[in-house]
Amino acid sequence: MSGTQLRSPRPCARQLRGLHGLALLLLALPLVTNADADCPCEEPTLCRPIRHHPDHEVFVFDVGYKTWKYYDWSQITTLAAFGKYDSELMCYAHSKGARVVLKGDVSVKDIIDPSFRASWIAQKLILAKKQYMDGINIDIEQEVNCSSPEYDALTALVKETTDAFHREIEGSQVTFDVAWSPKNIDKRCYNYTGIADACDFVFVMSYDEQSQVWSDCIAAANAPYNQTLTGYDDYINMGINPRKLVMGVPWYGYDYTCLKLSADICTIAKVPFRGAPCSDAAGRQVPYKVIMKQINSSISGGQWNEDQQAPYYNYKDSAGRFHQVWYDNPQSIALKAVYVIQHGLRGIGMWNANSLDYSGHPEAKQQTEEMWKVLKPKL
Ligand SMILES: *[C@@H]1O[C@H](CO)[C@@H](O)[C@H](O)[C@H]1NC(C)=O
Ligand SMILES: *[C@@H]1O[C@H](CO)[C@@H](O)[C@H](O)[C@H]1NC(C)=O
Ligand SMILES: *[C@@H]1O[C@H](CO)[C@@H](O)[C@H](O)[C@H]1NC(C)=O
Ligand SMILES: *[C@@H]1O[C@H](CO)[C@@H](O)[C@H](O)[C@H]1NC(C)=O
Repeated sequence: MSGTQLRSPRPCARQLRGLHGLALLLLALPLVTNADADCPCEEPTLCRPIRHHPDHEVFVFDVGYKTWKYYDWSQITTLAAFGKYDSELMCYAHSKGARVVLKGDVSVKDIIDPSFRASWIAQKLILAKKQYMDGINIDIEQEVNCSSPEYDALTALVKETTDAFHREIEGSQVTFDVAWSPKNIDKRCYNYTGIADACDFVFVMSYDEQSQVWSDCIAAANAPYNQTLTGYDDYINMGINPRKLVMGVPWYGYDYTCLKLSADICTIAKVPFRGAPCSDAAGRQVPYKVIMKQINSSISGGQWNEDQQAPYYNYKDSAGRFHQVWYDNPQSIALKAVYVIQHGLRGIGMWNANSLDYSGHPEAKQQTEEMWKVLKPKL
């Protein structure tokens, strides 16, 4: 907190009665920051923003509930709270030295107006301070045309948000979510270099990579090895410092209903998306925990595709239709995570941390631990 707005501390009057003036003054001293006064944490200093900037980021998206209690907090450096605000989570994250950041989403049509941007940022800042949060993750996945007023407005929004947060909340972090490639995926023509310059780092969403399929309309991996790494090469080649990139990996997969399944090729329905004839919208997103429970009852068992360096399996539903499920597991993630180290990226993260089985059953426990463990950089 900036601590500029001094509010009077509110110690219990009964306890104060009879104390000398000097003692009263001393008592008031630790309460000089407004931050501590309404702090919901047992230890009031836990409401202070995290100032430490780690070398390696482990950036975690959380969508709510109490699953966070089972996360591997020895690794987490930032948690983006996309679920309902939970002050217990904030206190806990801070006790582990991890940042908790807000979700920022806004219509790109609205942000063309500079005064709208200013009030949006002011609102987010008030919310972040009120909730003792450490920054904001801007998640705008909307279509933007290259020569449109939205193009420059988006870069301006990121710059202005970063300036305001850095000024008002000490040590705070402002990040922006980008698609797996800078090549205007899903018609998102953004100023990627400008945006990366303007914030602390971008989170590269290396998933949903079949959102626009231009070739055969068949099921494929959510985040194929080559396609994923080509995306990073492209970001780096356009001049973005690798330290501005955090690799986002999926902890979920896609379940496709096959119109036809032959020789392991699953033909899928043509569901167009932003100009492409075919897309992963033909499939259904499934969390890793659901996938792991289904593999054994599948008709293929767990398979590995060499070209895409990704696991998949086929199963038959109760109506007799064939499905193909593509996902990521410790093996496919480990391969991609090597790139983080080799190319000096800022870190790694996932959508989303809630997707694992935290029930504690011995088998689930091991699967869950392996998924967390593979985030640790190894060569
Ligand atoms: C982008 O431009 C096209 C063609 O001019 C238009 O149809 C579309 O609505 C525009 N999209 C946005 C998000 O402004
Ligand atoms: C991107 O944004 C930066 C910073 O605002 C600006 O200098 C640059 O010209 C922009 N690039 C393009 C291609 O518009
Ligand atoms: C699936 O099969 C493997 C290998 O046979 C076994 O180790 C595992 O316990 C099974 N998992 C479930 C959820 O049944
Ligand atoms: C992946 O990329 C490498 C290097 O560009 C290439 O040698 C390899 O053939 C590619 N694999 C596939 C399946 O496209």
